Amino acid sequence: MRTTISVIKCDVGSLAGHHIVPKPILEMAEKRLKEAKEQGIINSYFVFNAGDDLELLMVHTRGENNEEVHGLAWEIFQKTAEKAKNLKLYGAGQDLLKTAFSGNIRGMGPGTAEMEIEERPSEPIVVFAADKTSGGAFNFPLFKIFADPFNTAGLIIDPSMAGGFKFEVLDVKENKKAVFKCPEEMYELIALIGSVDRYTISHVWRKRDDLLCAVTSTSRLSLIAGKYVGKDDPVAIVRAQHGLPALGEVLMPFLHSFFVEGWMRGSHWGPIMPVSLKDSKCTIFDGPPRIVAIGFQVVNGEIASDDDGKPLISDLFDDPAFDLARREAIEHAAIMRRMGEFEPARLSSEIMEYTTLPRILERFKDRFIPV
Ligand code: F6R
Ligand code: MG
Ligand code: MG
Repeated sequence: MRTTISVIKCDVGSLAGHHIVPKPILEMAEKRLKEAKEQGIINSYFVFNAGDDLELLMVHTRGENNEEVHGLAWEIFQKTAEKAKNLKLYGAGQDLLKTAFSGNIRGMGPGTAEMEIEERPSEPIVVFAADKTSGGAFNFPLFKIFADPFNTAGLIIDPSMAGGFKFEVLDVKENKKAVFKCPEEMYELIALIGSVDRYTISHVWRKRDDLLCAVTSTSRLSLIAGKYVGKDDPVAIVRAQHGLPALGEVLMPFLHSFFVEGWMRGSHWGPIMPVSLKDSKCTIFDGPPRIVAIGFQVVNGEIASDDDGKPLISDLFDDPAFDLARREAIEHAAIMRRMGEFEPARLSSEIMEYTTLPRILERFKDRFIPV
């Protein structure tokens, strides 16, 4: 039996600006997923939010890119966006870039990360979801988790991790992909994934047996829409333990804050802030970019649940161990914001081409005369 973990997300509209998914929207999504479970479309679900993004975690046995599962997510996003419009929530339906669903939600606006796996005797999973940033935000932590021996002791100590991992890197501009092996091609890998706006890690496998270890959502809203429509606010699914990085090694990159592109108007470098689900809301300068993480076990095609069928979910960043990163995020935010619109606080002019800035620059074009 093969089990599929699908995380499909969308900004359907939010409260008080690009801030938070309000309760009625979360409840609507939950109600429909409950029905879908009763109908046998999915086996388990968990609804949560990353800032203004509605996140649907669904576990089933229908495989990746399944029409019914994607259709279910699409239906939920359409209906909740309708509700958001009725409430005049902010940016209602902003990520729904296409109208007609034709079997697969990819390329339609919502972000998708899916992983079909053969369940191991015990299958611990971490799902990360970030707001006010883009897919490349996972390059740094995924590299650390699966390739950096200073992060993951198992790379040195655990014989079952010997040989390392391989990374699929997507060139989001050219729409091409390539696989790099670590440790032997580590320098080449970093040469690419250090450019987070262009190269995104999309899959990680264990090298010795091709066991799938991690997937991320890699959609580029601006490339689908042809203009700036907000950041992609990515999600990632990571398997842990027993020959893979331990849960603590998966969470280790978040001991410190690090800089990601996004934040206000998708146009600034901002410090990522790991937060609990309760603090999953963007405030200061529409941020700082936030990331939540949930941990659970997959068992026989479902999320392990309590006796009432409620999924057992751990809110992983709801922990004082991440206070240091949160504090750093605020301090780094304050330092960066002192720079205002001067680089490096603002993204490079090349990346700014995908924002609303060119429409301003256009106005002065004719004022410049040859020197
Ligand atoms: C970033 C984001 C926000 C908005 C900002 C302006 O991804 O969504 O920072 O860009 O709040 O939004 P508008 O132009 O809708 O007022
Ligand atoms: Mg929004
Ligand atoms: Mg968002």
